[in-house]
Amino acid sequence: MQIVSVINYKGGVGKTTLTANLAAELAFRGKRVLLLDMDAQCSLTFSFVTPDYWRDELGGDGTTGSDKTIKSWFDGIGDDDLETPELGSLIVPNLKVAESLPDNGGKIDLIPSHLGLINVDLDLAYMLSGVPPGRVKRQLAKVYGLLRSHLGKYVAEAKYDIVLIDCPPNFNIVTKNAIVASDGILIPAKPDYLSTLGIDYLVRSYGSLVKEFNTGSGSDDIHPEILGVVFTMIQIHGGQPIRAQRDYMQLSNISVFSSQIRENKTIFASAPEDGIPVVLHGYKQPTYSSIVSEIESLAVEFCEKAGVK
Ligand SMILES: Nc1ncnc2c1ncn2[C@@H]1O[C@H](COP(=O)(O)OP(=O)(O)O)[C@@H](O)[C@H]1O
Ligand SMILES: [Mg+2]
Repeated sequence: MQIVSVINYKGGVGKTTLTANLAAELAFRGKRVLLLDMDAQCSLTFSFVTPDYWRDELGGDGTTGSDKTIKSWFDGIGDDDLETPELGSLIVPNLKVAESLPDNGGKIDLIPSHLGLINVDLDLAYMLSGVPPGRVKRQLAKVYGLLRSHLGKYVAEAKYDIVLIDCPPNFNIVTKNAIVASDGILIPAKPDYLSTLGIDYLVRSYGSLVKEFNTGSGSDDIHPEILGVVFTMIQIHGGQPIRAQRDYMQLSNISVFSSQIRENKTIFASAPEDGIPVVLHGYKQPTYSSIVSEIESLAVEFCEKAGVK
């Protein structure tokens, strides 16, 4: 399995933090990782590049007139008059995180996001308007499958071991493109009422999308697998999650990772600012090193579940 979408309907559950740290740990272990930021909030992008660089060099807020983000790719795909950039040309050069990785072939590449990605949904929805009833299914498959056809080919050519797509907290057309392009789905969640409430709904929406997309004709059908829920921001007391959280960690009908990430506001709050995910900081203090070991075991479990060799 190569392409995995990271998604939850709820924002603020630690999705981006988990994506950045999982990528960093996998790269540390020698994997070639591609990160694709598909959330208009751009938090994954800001975990690796500075806002100044993003604005001035990548055109991420639309003020420079040039755009080197995933939005330019969607714009090109949706508009015959615009050129569609190669996905590989959107990779941000010289990420600072490379300095923290050993010389073992592992790497992190990032395709950044743009504030205006939110509007891409409207343009793509336009491609679905006015389609005659008999052609709706075919047109839906075309619009939801835009990324799939290009990303799969690019990932094979560029020989990535794993691609992680940080999805927005919704189920719009951009998110559907991510899921249709994916072999697997990873669901980070905080063990509280609102963060777990949406999981059932997410799984149902995913099921409907797969049904809507597949024609049953075989080779073009998709079968993305739900890898499971990873609980984040766990509050540990007496060596285990506090009671109030444990109650929300008993999920039925969905697989739950045994690895969990505990809460630590101090180290997670500042890490994105220096462009190096927490797991690569080499913390020695016991409270910090337990977070590092949690991310390490998450990476091992993730590789087993996703079939990454
Ligand atoms: N394990 C954690 N402990 C404490 N704070 C965390 C943890 N994971 C994430 N955070 C913080 O929570 C906020 C939301 O995290 P983020 O990863 O951006 O969530 P999402 O992508 O789901 O919106 C950020 O300020 C982040 O620093
Ligand atoms: Mg996020």
